[in-house]
Amino acid sequence: MHAVGIVAAAGSGLRLGHERPKALVELAGRPLVAWAVQTLLEGGVQRVVVAVPAADRAAFAAALGPDVELVEGGDTRTASVRAALALAREDVDAVLVHDAARPLTPPDVVARVLAALAAGAPAVVPVLPVVDTTVSVAADGSVTTEVARAALRRVQTPQGFHRQALVAAYAAAHGSAAEFTDDASVVRASGVPVTTVDGDERAAKITVPHDLRLAELQVAAP
Ligand code: CTP
Ligand code: MG
Repeated sequence: MHAVGIVAAAGSGLRLGHERPKALVELAGRPLVAWAVQTLLEGGVQRVVVAVPAADRAAFAAALGPDVELVEGGDTRTASVRAALALAREDVDAVLVHDAARPLTPPDVVARVLAALAAGAPAVVPVLPVVDTTVSVAADGSVTTEVARAALRRVQTPQGFHRQALVAAYAAAHGSAAEFTDDASVVRASGVPVTTVDGDERAAKITVPHDLRLAELQVAAP
């Protein structure tokens, strides 16, 4: 399966609170985005396109070297992926979309997603179970319902798609008012079924400073 990887790295990382974009913040001396690119390549993707903030293109080029293609991202993650997708040429079978913010994703997760695509699934997401009691709350913070968690899953990246399914879904979603938080939601909105493979706790997203501290510990004592 000939696959291209897209890394969404054009966010600013407001919740992490560093001056530079989150994808350029270092984990064990390497920018988060470089970890994410390496995971995709080690997992079996042939080429990687990274969506970056327009103002920081030079810094990303310096961090990633000449073999990684860069594209200017947009105001939302969806817009950033859409921009990168335009560079996924028609000769690829599959596109894997990954967050720069998940630096310690093991390459095995990439391999599982690619295997499911090769077996015929048009869309694949890595997932983990929900382990905490999960509730809905009202605007005043009071609990309204407990949600049965057996069927719930937390969705990670990389998410994999047959190229044509992803391109068609992004074209259909263009201009719609819907807000999508991941790519599988865009594809599902176009009527394509999404299947799951096992995710990995190490693929956790770095959102707040505590997450980066945990990742540093993980690198130090894997
Ligand atoms: N992302 C992107 N383009 C955007 C917004 C986000 O490519 N306009 C990327 C981020 O770089 C990140 C991933 O999508 O790798 C997941 O987003 P998130 O964790 O929310 O990162 P940020 O948007 O950068 O962080 P924050 O929401 O705290 O500002
Ligand atoms: Mg964000």
